Amino acid sequence: MKNKISLFMLIILILSSLIVACGKGNESNLGKNTSEPESYTLTGIESKGKLVMGTSADYPPFEFHKMIDGKDEIVGFDIEIAKYIAKELGVELEIKDMDFDKLLGGLSTGMLDIVVAGMNPTPEREKEANFSDIYYESDHSVLTNKESESKIVSIEDLNGKSIGVQIGTTQEEFAQTEIKDAEVVSLSSNPDIVMNLKTKKIDCAIMETSVVKSFVKSNEDLKIVEDLAIDCGSDGVAIAIKKGNDELTQKINEILAKAKSEGLIEKWIVEANELNDLD
Ligand code: ARG
Repeated sequence: MKNKISLFMLIILILSSLIVACGKGNESNLGKNTSEPESYTLTGIESKGKLVMGTSADYPPFEFHKMIDGKDEIVGFDIEIAKYIAKELGVELEIKDMDFDKLLGGLSTGMLDIVVAGMNPTPEREKEANFSDIYYESDHSVLTNKESESKIVSIEDLNGKSIGVQIGTTQEEFAQTEIKDAEVVSLSSNPDIVMNLKTKKIDCAIMETSVVKSFVKSNEDLKIVEDLAIDCGSDGVAIAIKKGNDELTQKINEILAKAKSEGLIEKWIVEANELNDLD
C-alpha cells in the first residue's frame, strides 16, 4: 500500500514537472516572439537601417526650408546634428516635418525615433520623453516692429500686448502665465508669426534669440528688443527620445559629446546662419 502511494506520488511529481517545463517552453517561445526589438530602440534603428527624426522646420537657424538647386530642402543646425548621429549609428536619416506640438506624440507612438527641434527640456516634457544632454545653450528674446508705436523696452512693457508664439512651445507657456493681460496669439508656424508682425496684427513675438536674430536679418522692418532676456524656464535645447529608451539616450549623449569635442556644433551653427543669410 505504502509503495503504491509513493509510486502514485512519484507519477504526479513527474507529470507536474512536465507541465511546468512545457509552460516554460511556451513562455520562452512567447518571449522570442515579443523580443523583436521595437523600431525606435538602438537595435531597432540599426536593424531597420534608418533613424527617423521629427522636427518643425520653421525655426532658422535650427531647421528651415531652403531652395537648393531648385529643390526644396530642410536644412539647419539641428539637421546637421541628426545627420551626424545617423552617420555614427551607420544608418540613413529620414526627416519628418511636423507641427511642433505633435512632435512628442510622434515619439510616444513610435512613429519618430528622435526629435531635434530646438526643444527645451522642461519638467513637464520630461514626464513624456527622455532628453539628451543640452547641445546648445539658448535664451529667448522679443521680436518686434522697427517703427512699432508700442515701444517695448522692459518685461512690464509686454503687459496688455498681443504676443505671437508658436503652439505648444515654452514661449507660449511664458506668454500665457507670466505676462499680465497679454493677448496671446498662438500660431502653428514661426513664419506665420513673422507675417502677423509685419502686417502689424500683433505687437511682438517671443522666440529663441538666435531665431529672432535670424528673422531680423531677413526682414528689414523687424527688430530685436536689445538687452531683454526672456526666461522661458530652460537653459538650452536637447534631443527628445521616447520615454524609457535609455540605451539610445546614452548613445546619443556619447555622440553629442564627440561632436562637441570635435568643434562641430559651433561649426554647424555658423554654417546654418550663413546658409540662412544667402538668398
Ligand atoms: N524652444 C522652444 C520650445 O522648446 C521652441 C522651439 C520651437 N522649435 C521649432 N522647431 N519650431 O518650446
